[in-house]
Amino acid sequence: MQDKIKNINNIEELQALYTATFGKNGTMTARLKEMKNLDNEARASLNKENTMLRELFKNRQIELENQALMEGLAKQRLDASLNPEPENIGTLHPLTKSLSEISAVLESFGYKMWTGPEIEDDWHNFTALNTPDYHPARDMQDSFFLDNGNVMRTQTSAIQIRSMEKEGAPIKMFGVGATYRKEMDATHSPMFHQIEGLYIDKDITMSDLISDVKEFLKKFFEMDEVELRIRPSYFPFTEPSIEIDLKWQGGKWLEIMGAGMVHPNVLRNCNIDPDVYQGFAFGFGWDRLAMLKYGLNDIRQFYDGDIRWLRKTGF
Ligand code: PHE
Repeated sequence: MQDKIKNINNIEELQALYTATFGKNGTMTARLKEMKNLDNEARASLNKENTMLRELFKNRQIELENQALMEGLAKQRLDASLNPEPENIGTLHPLTKSLSEISAVLESFGYKMWTGPEIEDDWHNFTALNTPDYHPARDMQDSFFLDNGNVMRTQTSAIQIRSMEKEGAPIKMFGVGATYRKEMDATHSPMFHQIEGLYIDKDITMSDLISDVKEFLKKFFEMDEVELRIRPSYFPFTEPSIEIDLKWQGGKWLEIMGAGMVHPNVLRNCNIDPDVYQGFAFGFGWDRLAMLKYGLNDIRQFYDGDIRWLRKTGF
């Protein structure tokens, strides 16, 4: 019996043997019932056997329970040598990434970053920019007007007015922000972004404009040399006005930005004397430059918030 208990290897079997021994119809129970017929010596020996067997059952039960616990723990043990799940640290949006590249270049040239309100008044978005009442840019078809006569900023040029009003001349700044127009296709979104440089001082000429733009494009696109094409253009707030094209892969010309010498009326509107100061402004689509640099083809994807697209293009 003692050996039998010691050799049992699972709790259920031990339980069954216990019941067969000490249960209602158990062998030991039956023997204990007959104890009164035994002499003293036999009685003492039966008592001893009873106690000893109960002890043995109890010990074996504890052993088996411990064994089961250890086996369970061994199975659950952490294996620190396994590769952890890859950590998802997120990515930068292409606009965030391109802004930090653009501003790093412009700041290295001495331009300071400015922002301004996205809801503008007529003065900053149009009038101070020498944009007459009849100019098509004011047309209801193009601009989002609010009931109170304000407008969703159509161009970051509004920021250059704010900067000149506040700081006067000389000034070297770039304005950054969202702009709004009623247009929508693969390369146009009703909300898009512009960046605009302005440099006003006493001896600023068109050649300063072209050299800054050239150096900027070279650094931003990481090109050894860039080839520009300058075409005459028209903007109410610059005179003369130009359009700057960049020679792209395959010899294709890309229209990259509008620019020009700031119109004397604009300087006057900001209390700057055009007989003392002059300078240039240039403006471009921030989204468009990011699309060109990273090879993206649909501006609307910038604003869809599609996490799969962001992961694919993100940095
Ligand atoms: N504001 C012009 C546009 O939105 C771009 C521009 C900026 C042109 C500065 C000349 C100078 O098209």
